[in-house]
Amino acid sequence: MLDWEELIGACSGCQRCSLGSTRKNIVVGRGNVNAPLLFIGEGPGEQEDKQGLPFVGPAGKLLDTLLDALEIGKDQYYIANVVKCRPPGNRVPLDDEAEKCLPYLRNQVYLIKPRIIVCLGATAMKYIVDKDARITQIRGTWIERKGYWIMPTFHPAALLRDESKKILMWQDMKKVKQRLDELCQNKID
Ligand code: URA
Repeated sequence: MLDWEELIGACSGCQRCSLGSTRKNIVVGRGNVNAPLLFIGEGPGEQEDKQGLPFVGPAGKLLDTLLDALEIGKDQYYIANVVKCRPPGNRVPLDDEAEKCLPYLRNQVYLIKPRIIVCLGATAMKYIVDKDARITQIRGTWIERKGYWIMPTFHPAALLRDESKKILMWQDMKKVKQRLDELCQNKID
């Protein structure tokens, strides 16, 4: 496994797949590298590609609002994506692109050692939890794997398209907040 400096260096020059030739910037992640909570999205969009940071466009703004409402502070999470380069036109990453990029994400998980992983949407769920599961069926349920508590929920962009999902994601994230508080409390005791 690489340390952070090596990992960022490896990502910066990455040409493992064709997304390397169309990206403006690589989007590794942002947040506290020692956080108990890791969010995993799908891949950078237009704004993220421009700024080199994940979840800074409309979906990110919605996620920020949700996290503020839940009083989950910026020091409590790190946020990354399945793929580190923008797929053209914001299409879903191809299997081959995701598979080539996943070692970087695994390396990030190894370095951060989060207690909780939230999969934002079907793509993160597919590569982290189960490639055959359906997000509408498994969202909101805890999966314990290799010492991590994993919560699949909707991608915030899905809420922008369908407001009825807001309440469901809110319920899922309340569970995350509750477990986060429990785990952080236990650390202090
Ligand atoms: N959607 C994602 O999945 N990731 C981002 O970084 C931005 C939008």
